[in-house]
Amino acid sequence: MEGRVALSERIEPSADRMAEPFAEELDREIDQVLVTEDEIQDMLRKLGRDISNDYAGKDVLLVGVLKGAFIVMADLARYVHLPIEFDFMAVASYGAATRTSGVVRILKDLDHDIEGRHVLVVEDIVDSGLTLSYLLKNLRGRRPASLEVCALLQKAGIQRVPLDIRYKGFEIPPNFVVGYGLDFAERYRNLPYIATLRPEAYQDL
Ligand code: IMP
Repeated sequence: MEGRVALSERIEPSADRMAEPFAEELDREIDQVLVTEDEIQDMLRKLGRDISNDYAGKDVLLVGVLKGAFIVMADLARYVHLPIEFDFMAVASYGAATRTSGVVRILKDLDHDIEGRHVLVVEDIVDSGLTLSYLLKNLRGRRPASLEVCALLQKAGIQRVPLDIRYKGFEIPPNFVVGYGLDFAERYRNLPYIATLRPEAYQDL
């Protein structure tokens, strides 16, 4: 049809060749893949189903915690078969270091009022839990109709505050991980899996 471009012509011919140096770089930097792309998608599909069942008949507001949660949010939302709206908050807790500071600052607040809304906070990872605990306290003060959490990853045994996470993905060991939205010094967010880094990857930066 006129004006339409064949799929094969839309694929950048050099894309595969360009991917090679990146793949080699990752081979040098990634230590171990802890959760594969398929495992993540299967889990999100299951969580999406649970959320769809639990919130049937209700309008849900998904609140993503930037930057890490933007990828989880995008995939999870497509497994939720309900009318949903989106909002985002940005908080600072880490900087470029690999250990939590316990200090949480709101860099970007929600665009909308959440009073009377069914709010589901979407987190990439719960480490000490300090960020989430602060956020929940803050959001609860705005009187939503309900407030629950979906977290793709939770580090085992190191939470410093008790947290009630209704939709939980994977429990992982308490190591620093990257990928699927999670970064080290702003890199690796675009990996489709969750992995640990080799020590050399920290030293290079
Ligand atoms: P918490 O306050 O210690 O629970 O830390 C939560 C935030 O720290 C997450 O939302 C992430 O942005 C970041 N974070 C915690 N652990 C990791 C990690 O292993 N890799 C990358 N970012 C992490």
